Amino acid sequence: MRDHFEMRDADAAGRIGRLEVPRADRTIETPALMPVINPNRLTIEPARLEAEFGVEILITNSYIIRETESLREQALDEGLHAMLEFDGAIMTDSGSFQLSEYSDVEVTTKEIIEFQHAIGSDIGTPVDIPTPPDVSREQAESELATTQQALADAEAIDVGEILLNAPVQGSTHPDLREDAAAHAAATDLDVFPVGAVVPLMNSYRYDDMVEAVAAAKRGLGADCPVHLFGAGHPMMLALAVAMGCDLFDSAAYALYARAGRYLTVAGTQQLDDLDYLPCSCPICSERTPADLRSEDDDTRTRLLAEHNLHVTFEELRRIKQAIRSGNLLELVERRARGHPAMYDGYRALLDHADQLEAEDPVSKGTFFHTSAESARRPEVLRHHERLDRLAVPDRLLLTEGGAPDGDEYDDAWRVVPPFGPFPRELSDSYPFTAAVPDRPDRAGQVAAADGVRALVEANPDTEFTLAINDWHRDAIDRVPERVEIESLSTIHDDGD
Ligand code: GUN
Ligand code: ZN
Repeated sequence: MRDHFEMRDADAAGRIGRLEVPRADRTIETPALMPVINPNRLTIEPARLEAEFGVEILITNSYIIRETESLREQALDEGLHAMLEFDGAIMTDSGSFQLSEYSDVEVTTKEIIEFQHAIGSDIGTPVDIPTPPDVSREQAESELATTQQALADAEAIDVGEILLNAPVQGSTHPDLREDAAAHAAATDLDVFPVGAVVPLMNSYRYDDMVEAVAAAKRGLGADCPVHLFGAGHPMMLALAVAMGCDLFDSAAYALYARAGRYLTVAGTQQLDDLDYLPCSCPICSERTPADLRSEDDDTRTRLLAEHNLHVTFEELRRIKQAIRSGNLLELVERRARGHPAMYDGYRALLDHADQLEAEDPVSKGTFFHTSAESARRPEVLRHHERLDRLAVPDRLLLTEGGAPDGDEYDDAWRVVPPFGPFPRELSDSYPFTAAVPDRPDRAGQVAAADGVRALVEANPDTEFTLAINDWHRDAIDRVPERVEIESLSTIHDDGD
């Protein structure tokens, strides 16, 4: 168990946790969003972030502070918290991202972490190399070696109570990402950012982002607090939390505001294109789009930034409640409906249902089957994997209908898409309390047929009869030959 991180409620691989930040004397509830503060250009004053938005932790760039003489002097002199007028916890990034964009950056991990320590940062960052997506394996490997050296340099510095980030790189090579993560977890560094995903998100490659996070999580293990570096669009937070990310940082609220862009949970809108404001935050409830457009540039930017932060924190609260209520995947599914790139991301997440299943609680809120993708959720997978643990009699009826009279069968189990068969006594147990549609889709029936097959294959000596409504041919084809299939109306006729 990592010392500074404790997990509470969980749903899928998402969790509500507590990150202890000793230097700030604060415990941060996760998932948490850290607004990015550009010390040269405060879009919203940090004191207001704390008072009006409940911000407990923010992130700023120690490299920019160090390179700007006035800021450097002030930060060294009075400390980062006094300079920014913020009492909460402060994470500082290194110059890595600047390094990846402008090649003239020269700062070592030792220099920047000592500087971060000197200005009073609560969580520091070494100089990792944010290897972009799609580079060759050779480039990704050689840059990883540099990042690993940076982690070793960071580990060797005596920094007192400050927590340190151990960024996980590896570009779009999942095995390198997983190895990098295992290496990071083996250090005694504290927080684990998944790095260089910004280019993926900027080009709406949420499926590839999920692959990067899934690989990092495999290497890190469940007890590591994970930061998704550069991620803070409200549309993707639920997906990233469900994958097991705990910390986010948003520059989007300010950068997008500057470009006249209005964030929503289903994507980004141009203020110029809006006739109505689909939000009830303090900014939107008192203004029309025309009001916002008529403001001067600075005011409009600030107001848009405030709206952008309000929707982002609103989504974060919704996510935390969903974890508590056990319906995080239902929320992810709603977000997947909002944008095709999020749909890709959700489908990529379901490709890792086995990985999520390992973390997912065995019992939680009612399972809602709301789309064909619901059939691939970890709860369904788990049931199929555990069917071989259930005792079965010699002659078993599996039925979508009620239990028949007579003694033709020793027992009659229920069949409910997408789960498939389960003993009637389990009807009140999770996940069979599921709310499922009256018109099951093909994917639900196919998943149910897979459940039937798993049960039949685990019990070669049992005689199975499957009584079903009209199932899709693809589902019927997956039921083993030796199962006798009956139409439900026939069974009812017999019973009468
Ligand atoms: N900000 C966004 N991505 C990254 C990253 O990969 N590394 C660092 N240090 N900062 C980032
Ligand atoms: Zn708003």
